[in-house]
Amino acid sequence: MSAANTAPTPIIEARKLEKSYPQPDGSRIQVISATDLAVYPGQIIALLGASGCGKSTLLRMLTGLSPASAGAVYWHGQPVRDESPNVSIVFQSFALFPWLTVLENVEAPLEARGMPPIERRKRSLRIIDAVGLDGFETAYPKELSGGMKQRVGVARALVVEPEVLFMDEPFSALDVLTAETLRGELLELWLDHKIPTRAIFIVTHNIEEAVVLADRIIVLGRNPAHIHADFRSPIIRTRLPRSAPTVPELSCGRKSSCCHTLAPVAWPASWKFSPTRVAARISILSPMN
Ligand SMILES: Nc1ncnc2c1ncn2[C@@H]1O[C@H](COP(=O)(O)OP(=O)(O)O)[C@@H](O)[C@H]1O
Ligand SMILES: [Mg+2]
Repeated sequence: MSAANTAPTPIIEARKLEKSYPQPDGSRIQVISATDLAVYPGQIIALLGASGCGKSTLLRMLTGLSPASAGAVYWHGQPVRDESPNVSIVFQSFALFPWLTVLENVEAPLEARGMPPIERRKRSLRIIDAVGLDGFETAYPKELSGGMKQRVGVARALVVEPEVLFMDEPFSALDVLTAETLRGELLELWLDHKIPTRAIFIVTHNIEEAVVLADRIIVLGRNPAHIHADFRSPIIRTRLPRSAPTVPELSCGRKSSCCHTLAPVAWPASWKFSPTRVAARISILSPMN
């Protein structure tokens, strides 16, 4: 069998994708220059770039939420406008419905899709449990901390079982420790195959976040946005067996879902660099402009 036959088929493919906006003087400002990009199954992809460089614009076009000015997006080889892919996005601002409870927020997208009440409740309760919100089903968003609100955001996105989970700066509004915990929990859901999602596409301006989470990092330059670098993360994650002792250097006293315990057993020996050192190296090699 030739190598071409064994290459995985992309779920999403952007071909010469561009975005420009009209200006008051009648001219157009180009935000995204002609970009080719493919999203393959089995990967967490981080789209890394400075604020305002065009990350959200690119994400919206990949999901079909925003039309391209030129070029096209294909899902499974079909133009996204014909396909209406099963997309869900986790936003930085959580974007919860304040008048709905946790359970009702999570159920909302299933209700919108016409799922019968019993089935949507069952599915919602399962995912609420998976994101650690068991017992908070009847709480309203105003009663929750930022981290818990974003757990609801993640549950609401996952409940529709999206083929690709899109996340737009999902942890940026959280304090450092909460963000780290939620990253660890997301990795646990992914690495333990607790979610049927086939790929995760996360937009971030945080180099360490990209290094810790992603299998593949795409660095976006700006004015207009273009792919500056696209490479596999040098960090290989393997799951610690549940019974394995916490690696002494990383012992942090936090619960088992802490991202540190997701490190390979032989940390730091089997990782060539620590995330911080890898992040520092990426920032030197790939200045984001
Ligand atoms: N509707 C719009 N009209 C004009 N310019 C826009 C519009 N939406 C976004 N932009 C511009 O596009 C650029 C990229 O925005 P965005 O994709 O939100 O960046 P990022 O997500 O990387 O912070 C910004 O300079 C922003 O001002
Ligand atoms: Mg943005």
